[in-house]
Amino acid sequence: MGSLPYLLRGALVTLIVFAYTTTALNVLDLSTQKWTVESQTLNISAKGKVPSYVHLDLHEAQIIGDPYYGLNDFNQRFIAWSDWNYTTNIQSHNINIPLHGTNTTRTYLLFDGLDTFADIFLCGHLVASTNNQFRQYYFDVTDILSTCKSAMPPELRILFASAPATAGAIAAQPGQETWPDLVEIVFEFSNRQFIRKEQNDFGWDWGPGFAPSGIWKPAWIVQLEDAEVYVRNSDLDLYRAGQINNLPPDQGANWILNASVDVIGTLPKDAKLRYAVIEVDSDEQVSCGELSNITNSGGTITGTAVLDKDDYNLWWPSGLGQQKLYFIEVSISSPSGAILVSVKKRTGFRTIVLNLGEVTEAQLSQGTAPGNNWHFEINGHEFYAKGSNFIPPDVFWPSVTPLRIRTLFDAVVEGNQNMLRVWASGAYSPDFMYDLADEMGILLWSEFEFGDSLYPVDADFLENVRQEAAYQVRRVNHHPSLALWAGGNELENLELLLVNMSAPYEYLRYKGEYETLFINTLLPAVYENSRSITYIPSSTTNGYISFNASNPIPITQRYNNLEPGHIYGDTDHYSYDVDQAFDISTYPIGRFANEFGFHSMPSVSSFRNVVPEDELFFNSTTILLRNKHYPSKSLSTTNFDNSSLGMGEMTRAVQVYYPTPNLTDPIANFSAWTLATQIFQADFYKTQIQLYRAGSGRPERQLGSLYWQLEDQWQAPTWAGIEYEGRWKVLHYVAKDVYQPVIVAPVWNVTSGLLDVYAVSDLWTEVKGTVEVGWWDWTGEELIGVSTGLGGRTGRRRWQFEVGALNSTLLTSIDMAALTESGGNITQARRAPARPAFDASNAVFVASVTATGTPVNTKATKTYYHTNCWTPTPLKDAALVDPGSSVDYDREADEFVVKSTEGISIWTWLKLSLDDDAVVVNFDDNGFLLRPGEVKRVGYNILSGGSEGWRKRVTVGSIWDFTQVS
Ligand SMILES: *[C@@H]1O[C@H](CO)[C@@H](O)[C@H](O)[C@H]1NC(C)=O
Ligand SMILES: *[C@@H]1O[C@H](CO)[C@@H](O)[C@H](O)[C@H]1NC(C)=O
Ligand SMILES: *[C@@H]1O[C@H](CO)[C@@H](O)[C@H](O)[C@H]1NC(C)=O
Ligand SMILES: *[C@@H]1O[C@H](CO)[C@@H](O)[C@H](O)[C@H]1NC(C)=O
Repeated sequence: MGSLPYLLRGALVTLIVFAYTTTALNVLDLSTQKWTVESQTLNISAKGKVPSYVHLDLHEAQIIGDPYYGLNDFNQRFIAWSDWNYTTNIQSHNINIPLHGTNTTRTYLLFDGLDTFADIFLCGHLVASTNNQFRQYYFDVTDILSTCKSAMPPELRILFASAPATAGAIAAQPGQETWPDLVEIVFEFSNRQFIRKEQNDFGWDWGPGFAPSGIWKPAWIVQLEDAEVYVRNSDLDLYRAGQINNLPPDQGANWILNASVDVIGTLPKDAKLRYAVIEVDSDEQVSCGELSNITNSGGTITGTAVLDKDDYNLWWPSGLGQQKLYFIEVSISSPSGAILVSVKKRTGFRTIVLNLGEVTEAQLSQGTAPGNNWHFEINGHEFYAKGSNFIPPDVFWPSVTPLRIRTLFDAVVEGNQNMLRVWASGAYSPDFMYDLADEMGILLWSEFEFGDSLYPVDADFLENVRQEAAYQVRRVNHHPSLALWAGGNELENLELLLVNMSAPYEYLRYKGEYETLFINTLLPAVYENSRSITYIPSSTTNGYISFNASNPIPITQRYNNLEPGHIYGDTDHYSYDVDQAFDISTYPIGRFANEFGFHSMPSVSSFRNVVPEDELFFNSTTILLRNKHYPSKSLSTTNFDNSSLGMGEMTRAVQVYYPTPNLTDPIANFSAWTLATQIFQADFYKTQIQLYRAGSGRPERQLGSLYWQLEDQWQAPTWAGIEYEGRWKVLHYVAKDVYQPVIVAPVWNVTSGLLDVYAVSDLWTEVKGTVEVGWWDWTGEELIGVSTGLGGRTGRRRWQFEVGALNSTLLTSIDMAALTESGGNITQARRAPARPAFDASNAVFVASVTATGTPVNTKATKTYYHTNCWTPTPLKDAALVDPGSSVDYDREADEFVVKSTEGISIWTWLKLSLDDDAVVVNFDDNGFLLRPGEVKRVGYNILSGGSEGWRKRVTVGSIWDFTQVS
């Protein structure tokens, strides 16, 4: 929106789905028409667009300011509360479209997305009313069109009713469902659970509430002659013979292709289906043939074929192999053999299963705790899922270009991530997003759009959801990047818990309703349209207690039927009690961490695009009101109390652990504070990710970490690691570092007083290497002495280690009480050492590994390096010294050269000058540790913008800067 660099970048759309016919169809793309958006009530009229939103069109017409600017989130609420007409007088310039067609011509309106409550009028006649943002709609308007006056171009008008007002009216209907207090988590507008619209359009704790309306996806007029058909959707399912959703298939079985095509018009009764598989790189046809077992309803035709398992190369996620892609072309022909229509989609051969099966005897014998599994298997292999949660990257989807998603996905791959959980209360991902994920090897855990509420279960609501789900599952099923379907966000672990707390006597009724929607409605929508994808009802879940494939609903959920000592589901962890942040005993132990996090401030450069200069300070009204944590029950637009809670948490996190910035220049001070909140965030996530990854070799057999959240939707304090303009916060750099295949991870156990140092590897074969650990004081002097904790004559120790496939090894356990003068400063000493070798309480522990391993699905070995550090004392209390660091730009190498000469530089941070706000640059590394004498060369990547000489103005800082008073 507004100030965004993205709008300026020409976007290259790779369209990977083709549908075409051999005869000439009349299809008019409605984006080519002249549209008007209007509210007679508000006396506003402007040029409209398709696809677009009222806010975007009014901003373009300069009737309103940039919605993201300042407090426009509140000031522009009147748009959401109003009704809007989008009107056009249909004219076809280039296409000879006989709108007042002959007898044999049938005319249809086709919409890929109307957001949300739309009354569609053609020549003043009501065509239909729609109520689901996520469904595709098409209507035969032949008869209405014949009543239009032929002298005038026919008028198409779409009246969008206010979504918040309509949601309120539905909620107020007599007999309407209600829920106990707290069940509906309310952000800016209430009653979102009654409507099938992007749930965060009504606000969320990381985003504004604009509740936009408009024709948000492409729309067409389609005219068909007698025997013509138009493909509106299709479903290609590739699975192993005998495969059942949710269960690991036989990797030695042949592939089955199940192809299904949905058309407008009527297919001849004896229509045939043929397929061809074409290798994308070489454009060579690998196989072709006829599909058998045809079913044909006239509107949908389906058939299957067996594809020889030896003819195709597998698709793998990033870091685990190649992203091999194939086109599959499916043609429908008439009984005489004439091709009526063809669909060509790009796909890949892979199986992906979320294995929730009981822990086996073999697993138990390897040390895995009993309970059930909760991990993904790609092509039959367990792997470690590394990634984050993806939220809608913009309130206004039509401004999300493929280039913008590519930029984000570049950061994902660059950040050593292989999976994104596409969070459940935004919108279903556009095809181009899956296409990019297919190319780049990013697995997309996908979800139906429900979250943090319970939902109605009346027949109309369920049918509406069923249609939505079937359409979406069919649309995207061919993408090899599609990893999972989940029913919604935080339902089993949060919503059912809230119901049980608020109204225990009604728990069974609400649980029954939950199952009606999330099991009995959504599971069949997946199973009937795919055999290749696993379904789970809730993002966080303890999985099933039994699976019986012969039942129509094969799963019986476990919920809280837990046995002590057993481990079951995935985990979701948030704690704002910052004093406990680094106490690993407060983190959940599970098989997979699908959400965890803490919020931080974006950079001043980011804020500057939308916050007035005099509001650029930590607790300014504008910034306070852009902080949506916590959600409030109240709909008041200025709930200072709640948002200040979030500001207070970030402030305290900085105060507890780091020197607090105190600079006289207000902007420099604000900038230091934003960085300090980001450092806490990164440090907190790092501690969790390290524990989770170390868990791959512990009884929990932990096999995934997806932190909350990848990116920002706007410029505000949120949990994101990437700011709205694409700048990486400290978090994204740190996650990149600890998501490397082989790492050394110091895990500090407050309770035992032990620093456990792990080597972790997610390669699929054994890794061998050398580890070196030691202690340094802040001036960079190495600490040497005889030490019980380190067991050697000096502080520094070096030895060989091995880590098994997809595993962790405990390298050493250091008893911290033995390494400090007081023996009790760090934790309650288990025993006071007589004479510690040296006092480590004010030192830095540094561990480095050099290891040789074989990257997954390759043959050549590779050397992996990783260095990590840990400090026993919060940096606030550390004897920091000025590290004397400097940065130079090496023009020849096109790299920055960073050094420190006087002391240890911790959280070393390269930053652009505040005069270079317009340039968005990410470095190859940032937030690193630098000891005196070390030289670090850092490359960079310019995302957008430019200014002369910015490289020369790059400076380097560190935590030391926060100790400076000026
Ligand atoms: C939409 O257009 C119809 C027909 O002109 C009109 O009756 C109605 O008031 C309009 N609604 C708004 C919100 O402008
Ligand atoms: C069909 O076309 C014929 C000849 O043009 C005309 O007489 C008849 O009224 C048309 N029928 C309809 C339903 O438009
Ligand atoms: C076609 O249907 C028959 C009978 O149900 C079944 O045995 C066969 O495996 C099916 N063929 C394919 C390719 O699915
Ligand atoms: C911001 O406001 C909160 C709430 O009043 C307060 O706790 C916190 O200390 C303030 N932070 C800063 C940096 O001034």
